[in-house]
Amino acid sequence: MKSILVTGGAGFIGANFIRHLLAVDPGVQVINLDLLTYAGSLENLKDLPDAERHTFVQGDICDQSLVECLLRRHRIDTIVHFAAESHVDRSIHGPAPFVRTNIQGTFSLLEAARKVWLGEGMLPPDSVRFHHVSTDEVYGSLGPRDAPFCETTPYAPNSPYAASKAASDHLVRAYGHTYGLPFTITNCSNNYGPYQFPEKLIPLMILNALAGEPLPIYGDGLQVRDWLYVEDHCRAIHMVLREGQIGETYNIGGGNQPTNLELVQTICRLLDERFPDSPHQPHQSLITFVEDRPGHDRRYAMDTRKIQGQLGWQPRESLESGLRKTLEWYLGNERWIEVIRSRPSYRDWLERNYTARGTRA
Ligand code: NAD
Ligand code: TYD
Repeated sequence: MKSILVTGGAGFIGANFIRHLLAVDPGVQVINLDLLTYAGSLENLKDLPDAERHTFVQGDICDQSLVECLLRRHRIDTIVHFAAESHVDRSIHGPAPFVRTNIQGTFSLLEAARKVWLGEGMLPPDSVRFHHVSTDEVYGSLGPRDAPFCETTPYAPNSPYAASKAASDHLVRAYGHTYGLPFTITNCSNNYGPYQFPEKLIPLMILNALAGEPLPIYGDGLQVRDWLYVEDHCRAIHMVLREGQIGETYNIGGGNQPTNLELVQTICRLLDERFPDSPHQPHQSLITFVEDRPGHDRRYAMDTRKIQGQLGWQPRESLESGLRKTLEWYLGNERWIEVIRSRPSYRDWLERNYTARGTRA
């Protein structure tokens, strides 16, 4: 692994991954292909460690000829594919970009890799790898007593987002099976940590609570997610790149399964401790129950025994320690927050997703 094409590296997980890679892997060059949609920002790539080993290219993963050029010009041996439309609520309001980016975009990357790696034989086939980053949401929703998702759980995606990610996973696997494209896939649970766009639950709640604004909980708030600190996720992907078996899928999860309500209450408690004189004390009083998300998955949980047993990976952060780090990061990065909050498109999204949503008693 010498020359890596990271797609979506200006987004939340991609930017954390590039930071991690540059810090721990002195031998690699990183080419970062990102379209800079609403979710991507060059602010996420400021002060990279060893920044001269990182090259940013603004472009679309659907542009197959651009991807082919990058593969040839930089003699790319590894693709780590994060670029996606990633927010379930946006996929409900407008699924078309999810089909385009997540399905068509993955297809175009696979076609570029097939042509340059397998067709032109730019590098020996055993020295290349396509790593696809996916989600636990492809497996559907669990009942309260169901066993956690494992790598062989049948796919049953429920939202347009999950369906588009499932389709992309299938394409990757099919290219391995049919053309012999060397691939690995990781399916991870909900990430949180620095640089997460404040449309997702944890950063939205932190920012709203700091501003004394309502904390909107969908439905009864008893849905369960498995929260994974982003740095733990990045370490897992790096391990899979180095030691993961070609053709295999690995599930990654944080081993934390609070309800949404418990999670938001924990954030409120941390804020109460951190700001004892806040006029918004107790922050829990800001919690507001709002109309549920259509088709809302009830519970996700990950069985991570495969990656733990085969690669020795374990999450290092507990939910409490990860949340404390995340809170401190947002408190220390006011400029980053201001850049996002001042964008009209962000205000528009809040208006679109929350204003029309009724509150529940
Ligand atoms: P994100 O929305 O923060 O970032 C996505 C990035 O992709 C942005 O920088 C955006 O500009 C870029 N992008 C979008 N369309 C593009 C295109 N056509 N061409 C090039 N770049 C494009 O997403 P994230 O939270 O960092 O998620 C990264 C990956 O991890 C996604 O594939 C997502 O499905 C997966 N994932 C995320 C989570 C999570 O909790 N965030 C959980 C499981 C899986
Ligand atoms: P989210 O961060 O959007 O991730 P995902 O939908 O991919 O799991 O949401 C996490 C959970 O929080 C999910 O059950 C929906 C819920 N949620 C709220 O209750 N209120 C909100 O404002 C948001 C954004 C999410």
